Amino acid sequence: MLKHRGTDTLKTERLVLRPYLEGDGDSMYRNWASDPLVSRYLTWAPHESPDVSRALVSEWAACYGSDRFYHWVITLDGEPVGDISVVRWNEQNEEAELGYCLSRSLWGQGLMTEALRAVSLYLFDQIGFHRIMLRHDRLNPASGRVMQKAGFLYEGCLREALLTREGRWADLCVYGATRASLLDCAKEKQL
Ligand SMILES: CC(C)(COP(=O)(O)OP(=O)(O)OC[C@H]1O[C@@H](n2cnc3c(N)ncnc32)[C@H](O)[C@@H]1OP(=O)(O)O)[C@@H](O)C(=O)NCCC(=O)NCCS
Repeated sequence: MLKHRGTDTLKTERLVLRPYLEGDGDSMYRNWASDPLVSRYLTWAPHESPDVSRALVSEWAACYGSDRFYHWVITLDGEPVGDISVVRWNEQNEEAELGYCLSRSLWGQGLMTEALRAVSLYLFDQIGFHRIMLRHDRLNPASGRVMQKAGFLYEGCLREALLTREGRWADLCVYGATRASLLDCAKEKQL
């Protein structure tokens, strides 16, 4: 059975993952939400103004009263630089699905792999999820690489499973992990 406790602050070697605070909206807009290349393979469109980011942050900040809300802002040296969250979960099957994005200026340094491992271990060890899964657009292989490096296994492809904002039917690659498979994989990679 899941033991919900919401969005605890998590620390990794380089990052602090914490609940959003009122006031994070401007950094969110500046660092990732306004960048069309960040949201290129995501369901949301780039934010047109900081007001859009501020309003979303306010909405999320109001949700932390619930112990079933798992949504972190990723910070580096105190600056909000990205986002990682449980986008969906199934209580019965104790399964969570995660989504994430990061400021383009920081891509390619292993930061999202670090964040994904920390959140996955939290969800397995503290909340008790049995399985975590992620999906990415087949045209976005960098995201699949993050999943592999964090210890997730490729499970297959859902063909034409998502109609994108630009009207393209996207194939979605599915990755999954149980706690045991994540730790086994980490042992192999000496993480
Ligand atoms: C996907 C994303 C989160 C990756 O974050 P990151 O911190 O740069 O990831 P990491 O540095 O941990 O790893 C990226 C890996 O992808 C690889 N990569 C980059 N571009 C690639 C490409 N076109 N094809 C294949 N691999 C690619 C990198 O080389 C790296 O692998 P390596 O360490 O083996 O060299 C970031 O690019 C992002 O925010 N993208 C926009 C939002 C998004 O797509 N979110 C995921 C939706 S499913």
